[in-house]
Amino acid sequence: MSSMTSDVIYLDHAATTPLRPEARAEMEPFLGRDFGNPSALYGLARRSSEAIDSARASIAKVLGCRPADIVLTSGGTESNNEAIKGVSLAQQLAGSGRHVITSRVEHHAVLHSCEFLEKFGFEITYLDVDRDGFIDLDDLGRALRPDTVLVTIMLANNEVGTIQPIAEAARIVREASARLGKTIPFHTDAVQAAGYLDLDVGDLGVDMLSLSAHKFGGPKGAGILFIRRRVPFLPLLSGGGQERRRRAGTEDVAGIVGAAIALEASERERPAAGAHAATLRDRLVHAVPRAVQGAELNGHPAMRLPNNTNFSFPGVEGDALVAALDQAGFAVGSGSACGSGSWEPSHVLLAMGVSLERAAGALRITVGRDTTPGDIEALLDHLPNVVARVRAELVPA
Ligand SMILES: Cc1ncc(COP(=O)(O)O)c(C=O)c1O
Repeated sequence: MSSMTSDVIYLDHAATTPLRPEARAEMEPFLGRDFGNPSALYGLARRSSEAIDSARASIAKVLGCRPADIVLTSGGTESNNEAIKGVSLAQQLAGSGRHVITSRVEHHAVLHSCEFLEKFGFEITYLDVDRDGFIDLDDLGRALRPDTVLVTIMLANNEVGTIQPIAEAARIVREASARLGKTIPFHTDAVQAAGYLDLDVGDLGVDMLSLSAHKFGGPKGAGILFIRRRVPFLPLLSGGGQERRRRAGTEDVAGIVGAAIALEASERERPAAGAHAATLRDRLVHAVPRAVQGAELNGHPAMRLPNNTNFSFPGVEGDALVAALDQAGFAVGSGSACGSGSWEPSHVLLAMGVSLERAAGALRITVGRDTTPGDIEALLDHLPNVVARVRAELVPA
């Protein structure tokens, strides 16, 4: 059983990950002794500002960018909001247009930011995806217009793990920018990719990239936004001059330090972590459809994050299955969005053409660095009975 979680086998690493001990250790002084406000001018405060400088430098190293291009935020949600609203509104002010391109399978932090812009007169193009969740690059090329001001497409999907062809997409947008004689910044939500995919912004060719620390062993409430120099940007938070006037507010020093340590460690361990996760994922992809009658994988078997699986179990409700598995000692993700308590089928699965019944019975199983082969075998031992029990409850004899 996983060392970090002794009373439950934790298989929901796409939702969040346990704090890495090395991140916690580095954060500790800033939760106590070193409490100075980084903007103040005495020695105590300098310890905080130097810690932020060094965290920013180490984050920039992983992303292959200048430290000055990093904005430290409160998480993936804020990074996406800042990128999408901050750039679109600045572009509108400059008279560049009001058209934004995204995809149908983005996280709600992206989709709802786009809906917010629609209320202010923006037009949004939502790119369709195929059965495996991939956008079509030709669709992207056709969607670009003289009034396009931003393209935002995620690097890896949080529900089905699909990895989008971001470098190619960014190239298409760059070429269109040159042809149209304007700046169309390309943003990618890389929240699920950290620790598994290359985050080098030069390799990806992106102008903005969002990360959330708790998805890679850092603390909750700490995020990262890369913004390339000269991208038009209107800060959303007004106040002090922190983060080079791009994000006001006294910095969460401990969170920033924890995020940087966790990102550095995740990047260092990336090859081994990917191989470890892929072995466990492939075992699930092979065994679950054989263990449970009717179970089907959603998304491509291999072209997905190494730690992600998503299965549909027709005849059950995903949420009921999550609850039954919880009782059996397993924490897994529901394949549907139920943020506000009301059940909604996953917009990602529906966009992929999955039927309502299959979308209703979806389950996301995501492994992490502490997951062992024994954890996976234990789940495979329990799953057939748990599914049978939930199915029997739905259809009383
Ligand atoms: C792809 C993606 N983007 C953005 C977010 C939002 O991150 P946070 O909840 O840390 O703000 C998440 C978290 O679930 C995510 O998976």
